[in-house]
Amino acid sequence: MMAANQVLPSTASVTADGHLSIGGCDLVALADEFGTPLVVYDEQHLRATAAEFVRAYAAADRAAEVIYASKAYFGLAALQLLREEGLSVDVASGGELYAVLAAGFAPKRIYLHGNNKTAHEVEDALDAGVGTVIIDGFDEIALIERAAAGRGIVQRVMVRVTPGIDPATHAAIATGQVDSKFGFSLAGDAQRGVAAIRASAHLQLVGLHAHLGSQLFDLSVFGPTADVLADFAAEVGPEDIEAVDLGGGLGVAYVQEHDPPAIAAFAAAQADALRSAFGARGLAIPRLLCEPGRAMVGRSGVTLYRVGGIKPIPGIRTYASVDGGMSDLLRPMLYGAVYEPVLASRAAAAPDRTYRIVGKHCESGDILVAEARLPELVVGDVICLPATGAYGVSMASNYNGQPRPAVVFAAGGTARVVTRRETYADILGRDLA
Ligand SMILES: Cc1ncc(COP(=O)(O)O)c(C=O)c1O
Repeated sequence: MMAANQVLPSTASVTADGHLSIGGCDLVALADEFGTPLVVYDEQHLRATAAEFVRAYAAADRAAEVIYASKAYFGLAALQLLREEGLSVDVASGGELYAVLAAGFAPKRIYLHGNNKTAHEVEDALDAGVGTVIIDGFDEIALIERAAAGRGIVQRVMVRVTPGIDPATHAAIATGQVDSKFGFSLAGDAQRGVAAIRASAHLQLVGLHAHLGSQLFDLSVFGPTADVLADFAAEVGPEDIEAVDLGGGLGVAYVQEHDPPAIAAFAAAQADALRSAFGARGLAIPRLLCEPGRAMVGRSGVTLYRVGGIKPIPGIRTYASVDGGMSDLLRPMLYGAVYEPVLASRAAAAPDRTYRIVGKHCESGDILVAEARLPELVVGDVICLPATGAYGVSMASNYNGQPRPAVVFAAGGTARVVTRRETYADILGRDLA
């Protein structure tokens, strides 16, 4: 048996051999079979999370739309699964657009984001028939209008604004403040942006967008955000503000102490905030849109690493080196993200030692977990880092020539490789020398 664990996927258990298992698959056996680092998704957990989002938002607002933020993880198998569960999808680049089209998303259900959309990206999106483009700044109004006019179409667009609300999260993942590269400020820019869009024969304004930031735990931010948006709608005229997209942001538990709100509570807080803010000003209540990324895929994924070296430094600390690191999980290095590893090889053993879990890359900052509590480690052990399903693989690199990891979906005791491990030849495959 293992203690209740809210960072592991819901099917996590311990085998008779004391190995951690997910989706009925022994993780040590998966590491042996497929190699490490290995990303394993609990397919049942992923599907259940998507269904829970759809249910929760439908209960909060019958017309709501759940739009998966594909940047969190855009592996084809996951995208196909999330499409089957009835989600829409957002993309922030031509590459993500390519992936979601390949996964079979209906173009009308695709939302195009980005603070610097290239002309190519806009043209590809409009050629594909993307449903909605979120306009991020003045310079792209003309770009999108030209592309729409050239195709003789009227493109649905939303305006992204920075509501000036501090979401109490890490500065690197806060986006709703005025001092941001994203969106129009409400001190004049957004008003002029809306006017320019309304003056265009090829753009149709359908709503407002505001993403406050990520890893949000505090639901009280949505009241003031909705007030700001409703004031803005009242100021510019509400007639075409049919929808308000409050972005992503629902936090996940990366460590046991994290206590994120339930999906239903998050959805209800957003819907209630819109209802009361727009209602109080006598405005029609806009349809609620949301764009969850990490909360959709984060907890269903884990990463497995093999311990290759243990270095005690008396009086200081003990380092345990694993065979991945910043090339497959950049978040700890990028913005101090924390994780809580489990020893997959002896999952029921008491975590009575402290290790610094470091990667194999040529950077002292390649630290996956600064202070990990684990049982005594031996070389060859398999460590599982839970809640790595979001912004792990999607931020992976080939630093030090490291092939990006394979991805496996585990369900009902069967594991299937959905992304093969990169090879050295893949890494050099684009070089023309
Ligand atoms: C516009 C937008 N929507 C949605 C998301 C997804 O955020 P999260 O993964 O925190 O849910 C992001 C994250 O960067 C974003 O910028």
